[in-house]
Amino acid sequence: MSDPRPIGVFDSGLGGLTVVKELFRTMPHETILYLGDTARSPYGDRSEAAIRKFSVQNARFCLTQNIKMLIVACNTASAIALDDIRQIAGDIPVIGVVVSGCKAAVVRTAEKKIGVIGANATIRSDAYSISIQSLDPSIKVYGKPCPLLASLVEVGMIESEIARLTVQYYLYELVDCGIDCLILGCSHYPLLMEVIQGTVGTNIQLIDSAFWAAKEVQDILQALDATAGADVDGIGKSRFFVTDHSPNFEQAAGRFLGQSAISPTTIDLEHR
Ligand code: DGL
Repeated sequence: MSDPRPIGVFDSGLGGLTVVKELFRTMPHETILYLGDTARSPYGDRSEAAIRKFSVQNARFCLTQNIKMLIVACNTASAIALDDIRQIAGDIPVIGVVVSGCKAAVVRTAEKKIGVIGANATIRSDAYSISIQSLDPSIKVYGKPCPLLASLVEVGMIESEIARLTVQYYLYELVDCGIDCLILGCSHYPLLMEVIQGTVGTNIQLIDSAFWAAKEVQDILQALDATAGADVDGIGKSRFFVTDHSPNFEQAAGRFLGQSAISPTTIDLEHR
């Protein structure tokens, strides 16, 4: 049986569109309902209490939109608030990008040494280490917060010399630890893939959480027999919501999604 309801996706801002891009690529018939909390982004330096509160408000909004599953596309929200979100989601399956990335890395590390980069709050939460070690306790996890990287992507300095130097500055210690897998634990980092790969070398495999989350969604929907029918124009019917429509929205959204021309609806979440 097919299920035409949309897949809900939320992020602290527009970075989660990297997950939407992967969903569109793997499942073009699925309709997406995306919420970017652009008014309160970034979450990476917020307190845990604020990240929990914002994440639950985001989830609550998505859950009012008749979605069939919810993806927490923000690594920070996924690291800190996944349990809170599951508690309010009832029967709706909820997945976070953290666990998807960990599952992919665990089966790929031969050296049993995995690096993780992300926002300050994500790395501080230890969610990646906890998740990896619950899958294989013999794996060593090396986390490194890289707060400047998301800002570089936000302003479009993706292939700049500054991006290259910043990546080198953050990553040289991780490379020295002997890792053979590096999880890109932030919604923005898939855009820096080339610079990061160029810095760490080809012996270190990059794990793109957005890609693996989309794959996991596909597996779950197939197992539940809840994919959309092949006649649905999922991309055309998808809807986008933001909490603030900034003047650079179109440019930034285009960068993350790889296509432009999405017109978002602005909503207020403060009182939900
Ligand atoms: N979406 C966040 C993440 O994936 C990055 C931006 C932020 O700090 O809000 O961790």
